[in-house]
Amino acid sequence: MGTLGLGIAGLGTVGAGVVDVVKRHRDLLSCRCGRAIEITAVSARDRNRDRGVDLSGFRWADDASDLASDPEVDVVVELIGGEEGIALDLVETALKNGKHVVTANKALLAVHGTKLAELADSTGVHVGYEAAVAGGIPIIKALREGLAGNRISRVYGILNGTSNYIMTAMREDGWAFADVLAEAQRLGYAEADPTLDIGGGDAAHKLAIMASIAFRRPVDFDSVHVEGIQAITPMDIEFAQEFGYRIKLLGIAQETEHGIEQRVHPCMVPLSGPIAHVDGVFNAAVVEGDFVDATTYVGRGAGAGPTASAVMADVVDIARGTRLPMFNVSASELVASPAVSIDRRNGAYYIRLMVLDRPGVIADVSAVLRDENISLGSLIQRGRDPETQVPVVMTTHEAEEAAMRRALERIADLDSVTEAPMTIRIEEL
Ligand code: HSE
Repeated sequence: MGTLGLGIAGLGTVGAGVVDVVKRHRDLLSCRCGRAIEITAVSARDRNRDRGVDLSGFRWADDASDLASDPEVDVVVELIGGEEGIALDLVETALKNGKHVVTANKALLAVHGTKLAELADSTGVHVGYEAAVAGGIPIIKALREGLAGNRISRVYGILNGTSNYIMTAMREDGWAFADVLAEAQRLGYAEADPTLDIGGGDAAHKLAIMASIAFRRPVDFDSVHVEGIQAITPMDIEFAQEFGYRIKLLGIAQETEHGIEQRVHPCMVPLSGPIAHVDGVFNAAVVEGDFVDATTYVGRGAGAGPTASAVMADVVDIARGTRLPMFNVSASELVASPAVSIDRRNGAYYIRLMVLDRPGVIADVSAVLRDENISLGSLIQRGRDPETQVPVVMTTHEAEEAAMRRALERIADLDSVTEAPMTIRIEEL
């Protein structure tokens, strides 16, 4: 087989990382693939920016979409980002033109994945997107290949490094969310616009992709219930510790008797479990299969090195001749099984109320919970001052989300409750 030509669109942190791997591991890669891998053309907005890698010798395409029709490009590596615009045009055209595609673009796949899978099927090309989910962790490979003999019942994990970094720093330093976020932005760990990271959208993109492979469904981003970490306070982190939990932003997709549930939100997970100890910018993913049981993967979820490592895994697959259906079955075999609303979640909850410490407050709260058939697990009250608010914190036994929501609406209306109640779902993972 001849040389495999790459056309790289986007030379940000990840693009520069890919150039670095191709250059540094030239011999290793060609030995592993039985053929050379060369960058034949690159495209980026600013031609003159110093990216810390030598780009001389690569042909420049002023328009990224030219890569999709370049006869020397076998694989279009899309590292531009964004769910619409240039990235979508480039990937669609490349697939129509029979070029393989490698992309790190989770938003694009979460929104247009099924349509792209149909296109890839029609021209028989391979779409690699290991870098789109959990950075350097080979979770797509695990799902598409390593666990292909299993029926998957659940996938979940810590899928956003920025949020995990922020909550780890809040716990270690006792800082408020906004202060840690500002510091993370100053240090360049968080994006200037961190909405997708802290709001859960980035994790939701990744979860929707994983769920499509796991449950043989068209990618269904719109059904993912999404909450971010903005409302978490150092007080909740401390109470979590007292109850034997740690707070993590998790993405969870599972098969239930009613259909497929997909949700991203902060969770309390037991300190005794593995997920609780995945801290800082690290990601974790857990896949539960009927024959293998639970398998856990931990690693760096972002950054030049880990993401370039994932991009190159796909490039090596293509160079070796691997061709897989994008979501592990051909697009025509994906079945839109029912999506389950989070209202049907059945599980335990942590509730923190800020109340005026007066007689009867707990009785009023308990009455509301009783009316909704919600049973208390434990309860802590801190401080004693009838004039100022004090926290009352409780955990419940298993309850249905819809009942819990109704109860919280009534509790929020009680005279002695001074702030909107804070709730965090407890997951015994
Ligand atoms: N911004 C993501 C994170 C990495 O913080 O994990 C790329 O998806």
